[in-house]
Amino acid sequence: MRLEADLAARTALALEPRLGGGNVDVFLTLGSGLASVADRIESPVDIPMAALPNVAVSTVPGHTGVLRYGTLAGKQVLAQLGRIHLYEGHDAADVTRTVSVASLLGADTFLVTNAAGGLEPSWAPGDLMLVEDHLNLTGTSPLLGVLRDDAPVFLDMAGAYDAELRDLALRIAAEQGVELRRGVYAGLVGPAYETPAEVRMLRALGAQAVGMSTVLEVIAARTHGMRVLGMSSITNVHGEGVATSHREVIEVGARAAEHLAGIVLGVLEAC
Ligand code: HPA
Repeated sequence: MRLEADLAARTALALEPRLGGGNVDVFLTLGSGLASVADRIESPVDIPMAALPNVAVSTVPGHTGVLRYGTLAGKQVLAQLGRIHLYEGHDAADVTRTVSVASLLGADTFLVTNAAGGLEPSWAPGDLMLVEDHLNLTGTSPLLGVLRDDAPVFLDMAGAYDAELRDLALRIAAEQGVELRRGVYAGLVGPAYETPAEVRMLRALGAQAVGMSTVLEVIAARTHGMRVLGMSSITNVHGEGVATSHREVIEVGARAAEHLAGIVLGVLEAC
């Protein structure tokens, strides 16, 4: 942990001067096709992730490796456009480092979005889901090998997705006339999409959505004591023998992104 804390601290030191002395209230991670929220950031400063020490850069189409700092709905936000995934060959510490960095820079709230596959047959591409809980099925954790003086090793994950922020998101979605479904997000390593047998398994486990991100970032955020709000854009719905393509994930995500952006702005204003 000494090493991980040092890595994140060095990244934070390199990032801080680029924020013009400003603080960070909220860290925002924008999933595949969900970057339009970042278009609304005022006085934006873009920091290429490649310019920062100890930060990996995503190589996946549809994911750009930029941190954007600025004002959104009255809050100082740091938004990550293009997250790092396990399936790119990075480890859990790399995947979650920017969360730790944002926490070091003062962020006490983590707003995480992702593109996900729906597991409920009645759902449709373009639906949005509030993440109420998750299943970490990646087989790893950012806490592996980590010893901290300031946080328990055996992190409590009950209530990881903040109840007040969930209520707020549901209220704002209702006010905006946007249906926000609710469910459990299963995080897998990927990068292959799920087989029909795996889809049946995930349903049996009680998941409503499946993706390849988020769960490790949320564990990291909770270990830093951040409040977490998670939302999924359902880009495809699994059915027997239905193929899943990355192009579909990007295109449908872009449409749902507008509704998601509205909810994010409303939550930021009120939180
Ligand atoms: N499975 C895993 N990850 C995803 C999916 C999916 O069906 N859709 C978007 N991300």
